Parts: sequence; structure tokens; C-alpha cells
Amino acid sequence: MSEPATSSGLRGVTAGATALSYVVPSGEYLRYRGYDIEDLCEHAIFEEVAFLLLHGRLPNRQDLHDYQAKLRALRALPAPLQDVLERIPARAHPMDVLRTACSMLGALEPEGDPSRQIEAADRLVAALPSALGYWFQFTRDGKRVDPVDSDPTIATQLLRLLTPPSPSDEQRRFMEVALILYAEHEFNASSFTARVIAGTLADYHSAITGALGALRGPLHGGANQAAMELIAPFQTPDEAREGVRRMLARKERVMGFGHAVYRRRDPRNDVFKAWARRLSLIAEDGYLYAVSEAIEEVMRAEKGLFPNADFYGASALHFAGLETNLFTPIFALARLCGWSAHVAEQRANNRLIRPGAEYVGPGRLQYVPLDRR
Ligand code: COA
Repeated sequence: MSEPATSSGLRGVTAGATALSYVVPSGEYLRYRGYDIEDLCEHAIFEEVAFLLLHGRLPNRQDLHDYQAKLRALRALPAPLQDVLERIPARAHPMDVLRTACSMLGALEPEGDPSRQIEAADRLVAALPSALGYWFQFTRDGKRVDPVDSDPTIATQLLRLLTPPSPSDEQRRFMEVALILYAEHEFNASSFTARVIAGTLADYHSAITGALGALRGPLHGGANQAAMELIAPFQTPDEAREGVRRMLARKERVMGFGHAVYRRRDPRNDVFKAWARRLSLIAEDGYLYAVSEAIEEVMRAEKGLFPNADFYGASALHFAGLETNLFTPIFALARLCGWSAHVAEQRANNRLIRPGAEYVGPGRLQYVPLDRR
């Protein structure tokens, strides 16, 4: 019998089945439970997509009305969680805040019976934006905001708590789009992490806390922050071309380019790019859009690499008024729906995930007991 193949980074390995999203290497389309992301981005709000992923079908008008009301009612934070949030320093990364809040909520309100998993997911989808906003407002302005506000959607709540006052209609619509685009993406590193944890029959909050950790790295969700940190210092397209060529000469990675599955394009990028352009027209530092295009041009010409969702996602989030270190948390609050749906899917047909490893250490060594005298 031939030895099973070893795949570095599990690249090209089909590690299970999913009905949640369809990712094709050509990048021709991306579908959530059969629906093209472009259609969802054009017409839906994030709560519709959350319902689709968590509850298995698109909501009708009444379902959506009821679901929004339910999520609004689930926004409140228990006092011990507020207390913990107040103790997280202002200098902490907001991903620390989400990871801590998720873990704390799991301790205060454990899932209990796995039949409650979707209830637990709805609660987290509603409460984590509140937790982030509560910490942000408390550490910036010393304000103890009441997260249970009349904001109709999670997108409007996030804009109210995390960005300067009076967002435009365009910014509001963009936040829905950003949350929709980040909501689900098959067996990406963080969703796979959630499935690995769920596969051990651990609880829901442990799976999500682990996923939050996996998302944060710059090769995954942290790429949007890293991409903005690359783009922001350049004043002109020429400076950007020069700077990126120097990075490539030093063999550095340019965050926001390339993809582990897509070979030609990332379908999310076109939507993000169009929004970045649109929002740049009303932004003070809208010149950064031209800077981004110059970086894209160099990466295509020199490396044959295309921008992934995080590259123009970064400038669009920036033009929408978010601080750079909030970009990955926005991604996380959206992907929370995908993670939760993956946990449910894994549990429905569970098998412990346990790949093998190729041993590359030394052969048998002679153990010599220590002389303890
Ligand atoms: N900048 C510069 N070079 C890159 C690159 C990037 N963003 N992405 C890939 N490459 C190069 C690698 O250096 C490597 O070159 P080499 O063969 O000369 O060493 C080659 O392309 C293959 O890279 P590899 O890391 O093996 O491909 P992968 O399929 O594992 O990579 C990513 C996928 C996403 C990890 C990778 O493209 C990357 O690091 N991108 C930047 C981080 C990012 O944007 N992440 C978000 C993904 S949605």
C-alpha cells in the first residue's frame, strides 16, 4: 500500500464537507448556502446573512423583523463582563477584548446542552459587538455606554460605538457589505480551528475563542490591519511603487496579496475595491486609494499576485472611519456567524480531526539516567 501524501499546510487537501459556502479556486464566484455574495452585498443586511448561515435559510420579512428584535434584546452585557472589560487596558489590542469577552461569556452563560448551540451563537453575535463598543468607549472617554440602544442593525451599532459621529448613508451601507463579505469562507484557518475544537466535543465558546486566536495572525484576518499599515505611510503612488519594489527585493511579504485557495482572483475583492473607491471620494485622505492601486499594479507586474479581500477591505474600512486596529475585530464579528455554523455542521456529523505527521526527528537515542548523587 502506498504511503499517504504529505501536504505542507494541508494545501490541496479536502478535509471534510460543508454546505455553508462554495469557494472555487478560479475565484469565479463565492456563494453562501447557494447565494452569490454580489447579490447579498447589493440587497441584504448582515442580519439576513447571519440568519441564513445560522438558521439554514434566508429569512422572510417577518423572520427578519423578529430576528433583528431578538438580536437587539440579546445585546445586554452582564455586570461581571462589564467589570472585566473595564479592566482591559486601553493599549490592549481589540482582538484581546473579543477573545476575553467570548471566554468570559462562556463562563457566565455556558452553552450547557449542545442543542442550545444556535441560541448560544445568536447571543454571541449580539453581545460581542456590544462588548467591543463598551470597552472602546470606556477606555477612550470613560463612558459606560448602554449597548442596548435603538440601533436597528449590528452595522449601525458598530458605527455608533466605534467611529466618529454622524456616519453617512454610504458608510452605513458599506458596514453591512463589509460584514456580509467577511461572514463565511469555507475551511479557512479560523473556521477550521473552530471545527477542530468542536470535533473534540468541547463547548461552543471554546471553539469560538480558539477561532478568534487563529483569525488574528497577519497571514489570515490580521492581514487587513497589516495592509493598512503598509498603505498609510505612502503619500503618493510613486512612493508606494518604490516602497513595495524595495520590500519585494528584500523578499518581504506584502500583506493583502495572494491566497491559499484562489488562483486568479478573490471574488470579495471586486466588491471591496468598488467600495474603497466610492468612499475615498468623500474621505480626507482619499489619495490613499491611488496609493493602493499603485501597490496592486506592482504586485501584479512583479509577482503575478492579486489583491485578496483584505487589501481593499483595509482601505474601505479606513475610509469608513475605523481605526486600523479595529479592522480585524470587524472581520471577527462577521466571521463569528461562519464559525458558529461550522461548529454546528461539525457536530452534526462529527469525527475527531486528527491528521498524521511525518516524523523528521532523530532515530532512537540511548537514555542515560542522571546521576542524582
Ligand atoms: N507577498 C509576497 N510574496 C508572496 C505573497 C505576498 N503576499 N504571497 C505569496 N507570496 C510568495 C511567497 O513568498 C512564495 O514565494 P517563493 O515560492 O519564492 O518562496 C510563493 O508566493 C508562495 O507562497 P506560499 O506562502 O507558499 O503560498 P500560500 O498559498 O501558502 O500563501 C498566503 C497564501 C495567503 C498565506 C500568502 O499569499 C500570504 O502570505 N499573503 C499575505 C497575507 C494575507 O494577505 N493573508 C490574507 C489571506 S485572505
